[in-house]
Amino acid sequence: MNPFDDFFSHSPETINADKIHKQWTSLAPVYDVERWQLPLPVWAKRPYDYEGLEAWEAARQAVKDSQSDQPMCIYIHIPFCTSKCGFCDSYSFKLGSHADTRVKEYVERIYKELWLWSAQGTLSNRPVTSVHLGGGTPTFLDKKSLEKLTACIRNAFNITNETEWALESTVQSLTPSMTACLHDLGFRRLHVGIQSLQARTRAVIGRRQSPEEALECIMQYKGMGWVVSVDLVCGLPEQTLTGWLADIQALADCGADGFSLYELLIYPQNLEWAKRHHLLERSHLANYFLFQAGGNMLSALGCRKNLFNHWANYRDKNIYFTYPTRGEDLLAVGTIADGVFGNYHYRHPRYAAYLQSTDNGLPGLEGGLFENPLEQKNKPLITAVLSNHITPGLATELNARKIDGGSILERWLAHALIESSDDGGYQLTNNGAWFAGNMIGEISSTQQ
Ligand SMILES: C[S@@+](CC[C@H](N)C(=O)[O-])C[C@H]1O[C@@H](n2cnc3c(N)ncnc32)[C@H](O)[C@@H]1O
Ligand code: SF4
Repeated sequence: MNPFDDFFSHSPETINADKIHKQWTSLAPVYDVERWQLPLPVWAKRPYDYEGLEAWEAARQAVKDSQSDQPMCIYIHIPFCTSKCGFCDSYSFKLGSHADTRVKEYVERIYKELWLWSAQGTLSNRPVTSVHLGGGTPTFLDKKSLEKLTACIRNAFNITNETEWALESTVQSLTPSMTACLHDLGFRRLHVGIQSLQARTRAVIGRRQSPEEALECIMQYKGMGWVVSVDLVCGLPEQTLTGWLADIQALADCGADGFSLYELLIYPQNLEWAKRHHLLERSHLANYFLFQAGGNMLSALGCRKNLFNHWANYRDKNIYFTYPTRGEDLLAVGTIADGVFGNYHYRHPRYAAYLQSTDNGLPGLEGGLFENPLEQKNKPLITAVLSNHITPGLATELNARKIDGGSILERWLAHALIESSDDGGYQLTNNGAWFAGNMIGEISSTQQ
């Protein structure tokens, strides 16, 4: 049996297996499921132009030069978790001894850094579209710390009635008192890491809450009027097609507004765990099939991608992750947080260096770099791919770019990476969602 028939032999009616088959067979010979690439930010592709204090000076200048009344987003990274999950590749860790003191110390650094940024240029006046607390697990912070940070943001920046307050968390840490605290502080968007609802998979990844508890949590937040987005990972041990689709259906039934689908990535931080579960010698094909099936089902449920790997209903605008589509800047604060002002990208260092380098009151930036002319030219196309919205004008540009004797646009159409959209432009298919990083690589390697 070929791998497709093998995988989809008992495919439920909820998905269109013929469509998935067509998607898969359209890829050859150019795109190989085993060799998909992650979309990378500028700072991950080449060395910084500036480091340390020079990076901070360049950031100050970039803030001054950036449009003075343009809205912006704020991101704060909280790297702490109750324990480190084996499968996780995020920059996050469990604090050892004196956790309370360390949390206080970290929050104090963030607090100082926020005030420092707010004194630069017109930052304190620019309307904030979204405040996003990412991690790690931001709800590892205690109530007082969360109050301190949110009060600081409200006092130091231009928070409006439209500002979306969002955070990432786990079912485990969303206790009744934490829920009440977050609601009182104005948070209304939750990204909750579900990963899987299948009992066997949950046991392997160390999620102790039952699937029912996870669903209950989502319904509770929905009942309070929040927008709830869920993270699911394909490629975890013990996953099956039926289970994966049942998870999506159950999450949709209890009202989840958005779905981020990830393939399990293996990096040094989760390598040992992956080895223990024999994931190193894996093929990506089964994960690609799961991803395709998930995307197919989410479209049937009425969701639309507003980011290459994020399916959402009309309530879920995904404001923070889509800031480049609105031409907004991003003020990012905290360890490993990376932000953008105009064409300048900057990044903070890891935990130990972050705490030390801010001793003198300056935000300890690891480095920063300006987009070069080619990166600036490619930015609208890259943003269009990542946000799943290729306008007719950008399609014309893609048509003019040549690769292997043809245009990029023709190539993407021929291999079913894109399809026509209602506005006369194009959107990503689920192939496109899988190969978004490769598509960006092709944009970057071609010039008009
Ligand atoms: C920054 S993490 C925070 C999630 C939250 N602390 C939790 O545990 O649910 C955001 C998401 O990244 C995804 N993720 C974590 N490790 C991953 C990996 N190795 N490969 C792909 N996605 C991963 C998970 O879906 C996770 O929910
Ligand atoms: S999956 Fe979430 S809780 Fe687990 S280590 Fe990663 S960030 Fe922390």
